[in-house]
Amino acid sequence: MQVKTRFTRTLARSEWEVGIVYQKFPPQQPSKRFNITTIPETQVKRRLARELSKSDWEPIIELWEATWPDSEPAHGVRIELEMELATGTDNSSCRRWLLHYIESDGNLAAVASSFGVTLKAGGEDLEVLAIAGVCCRESERGKGYGKALALDAFKRVNSGEFAVCLFQTAVPEFYEKLNCRRISNSIVNSTSDGVAFIDDYSMIYPAAYDLTEGEIDLMRCGW
Ligand SMILES: CC(C)(COP(=O)(O)OP(=O)(O)OC[C@H]1O[C@@H](n2cnc3c(N)ncnc32)[C@H](O)[C@@H]1OP(=O)(O)O)[C@@H](O)C(=O)NCCC(=O)NCCS
Repeated sequence: MQVKTRFTRTLARSEWEVGIVYQKFPPQQPSKRFNITTIPETQVKRRLARELSKSDWEPIIELWEATWPDSEPAHGVRIELEMELATGTDNSSCRRWLLHYIESDGNLAAVASSFGVTLKAGGEDLEVLAIAGVCCRESERGKGYGKALALDAFKRVNSGEFAVCLFQTAVPEFYEKLNCRRISNSIVNSTSDGVAFIDDYSMIYPAAYDLTEGEIDLMRCGW
């Protein structure tokens, strides 16, 4: 059985970069139930990964582990994260790392992760937005949370911070509704890590982005 490694590796390669100023969000509103058309933008929170405390991280990791139980062992993720927090270690393969999340009744309901990666597309350097770990607690699905988080991450492209977002997924139909498209480029990882993408589909946002048809070398493990 193939062991999924992306979250362990993403966490291990986090960069706790300073100096990025992001929009401050208003205080959390009292909990309400929203349907897909009425989620106010303020309900989506985003924070630099390095600004989260261990207690902020625990529910995020737990939700990822519950969503992808075949990922590498839970304790491995925690140990690597705790080491980074304790030592302040940076790793340049995961830049300007943001967590986008929604809470419901004071509990984490959905989360997504986005960060910058420089890869080689058709032999040329290309900085892309990576998104990973987009997931919603089973009991909270169908309320528009997943969509709201993906769109919040894609705002980093809309704002010009990145030209394009590249990611892997098992649910392309979900992203096609959000102006993403499937790509057929060969995705490789020429570094010793070896692991590129493991899901069945690779996609980009926005659909209209003119991506080279050549090979894409992630130059790091997949996310
Ligand atoms: C995929 C996932 C994040 C969707 O979250 P969600 O909050 O339930 O989705 P939303 O309520 O925001 O749905 C938005 C739209 O996507 C559609 N959609 C939701 N899940 C879908 C899926 N698995 N496949 C196709 N379409 C889907 C919804 O029907 C809705 O369509 P509409 O706008 O036409 O009404 C959630 O099902 C999940 O956590 N899945 C497991 C983890 C996963 O596969 N994540 C994606 C990793 S790349």
